[in-house]
Amino acid sequence: MPNKFKSDLEEDLSRLRRMLRKVAGDDVEEVRRRLAKQDEARVLDIACGECNEAEVLTDFLADLKGDAPGNVKLTGIDVRAREIENAQRRFGGKREQMVRPGSRECEFMTGDASKLDGHGELGEEFDLVFMRHQNYWNGAKTWEEIFDQALGKVGDDGRLIITSYFDKEHELALEAIQRLGGELIRTEFNAETRKLITDGKSVDRHVAIFKRKKG
Ligand SMILES: C[S@@+](CC[C@H](N)C(=O)[O-])C[C@H]1O[C@@H](n2cnc3c(N)ncnc32)[C@H](O)[C@@H]1O
Repeated sequence: MPNKFKSDLEEDLSRLRRMLRKVAGDDVEEVRRRLAKQDEARVLDIACGECNEAEVLTDFLADLKGDAPGNVKLTGIDVRAREIENAQRRFGGKREQMVRPGSRECEFMTGDASKLDGHGELGEEFDLVFMRHQNYWNGAKTWEEIFDQALGKVGDDGRLIITSYFDKEHELALEAIQRLGGELIRTEFNAETRKLITDGKSVDRHVAIFKRKKG
């Protein structure tokens, strides 16, 4: 991988780490309390592609879990088999955590995220459901189905976090997710976002956090 590309990716991930902390803010106390009592914290990364963010997400959950021992597990799903193979090769498997007792595990599956209900093996009630660079513009109907399925996987006190490349696409996704039963907690513009060649497009330009509306 060329050095410039590698360093761009690494800097994007450092910025994503900061954005996750910023958007979560004090809100995640509920999640934290829940995680402290659980043996395992689980994150579902939808439309994860090669899942460059795997370590950022497992670190984020491990931080929320605090000193409580226990495992962190990430499940990534994408419709593209080649990307999933790469994700599995790079991040798949289980390893011990360095700082406290417990393991960190990543697994990846090829599948259509608009039909998550058909993947019983996923289970329910994720502590965090994540979508990086949701792609609402590339098929609003499919992405509304994906958002709907994603909300269905958010546990009580769990959170959904999305990031977007574009202003308008983010706005449309916020509207759709709220219509489908998400309660917007906060959305943040990433002031350090890295611009891409396409006009108005940049990496993790916006990050938003939701919970499921009750009732
Ligand atoms: C803009 S890319 C983002 C990929 C990755 N999250 C990232 O930030 O690099 C959108 C991703 O959505 C995936 N995707 C599109 N439709 C999907 C579907 N129905 N089920 C699962 N993944 C889908 C694509 O394969 C692609 O990897």
